[in-house]
Amino acid sequence: MKRSELNEIIREGEKFIASFGFKMPEFANWTPEDWRRNKHRAREAIRARLGWDITDFGRGDFEDTGLLLFTIRNGSQENLRRGGGMVYAEKIMISRKNQITPMHTHGVKTEDIIVRGGAPLEVQLYNAKRGGGADQDRPVVVRMDGIEHEVKAGGIVQIQPGGSITLEPGHLHSFWGAGGDSLVGEVSVVNDDETDNYFLDMVSRFPDVEEDEPPYRLIVPDYAKL
Ligand SMILES: [Fe+2]
Repeated sequence: MKRSELNEIIREGEKFIASFGFKMPEFANWTPEDWRRNKHRAREAIRARLGWDITDFGRGDFEDTGLLLFTIRNGSQENLRRGGGMVYAEKIMISRKNQITPMHTHGVKTEDIIVRGGAPLEVQLYNAKRGGGADQDRPVVVRMDGIEHEVKAGGIVQIQPGGSITLEPGHLHSFWGAGGDSLVGEVSVVNDDETDNYFLDMVSRFPDVEEDEPPYRLIVPDYAKL
């Protein structure tokens, strides 16, 4: 993706998030220079990969296949292994109208996907088969706001603003904004986007960036260069 495109997506995202009165933490507004200056103090944020994260899943068409994410908090794998401490994570995301996040599941992470505002979110569901792939037959049992639902394989559920779905490991899911852009929250077990995402079709989770203008905000993969 071009840096100019990432900059524009973040600027639009900031406006969209602010339009719901959702307040972002201070470091969301840090310039690249702020990150460099605060690199030591921010080492835990850098380690936990907090901050702006934009992906076109390697398809080169952000409007059709893409997602804006901002990781607000994220614990560590060490805590998860020892079973205590910060074992949770939270994100805010924008899933634009008909903009698809491709079908995937997680090995460890259970996540609640919560529609915080805007358009409803549509989520397509399958059970993952043991050896990989989508089970075309077995209905998917999911909880939405704690209430159990049975959805046929490949069925689509619509989540209204205020509502949520709990996705367990083995639940294959794909989602998009239905009829408009959706402001989406995620509350989950510790998140590791480097190792815990299993996409049905090969995708690249983080974009290669073509530097055609200076960054307005850093995105998570930029931290490696700090
Ligand atoms: Fe997911």
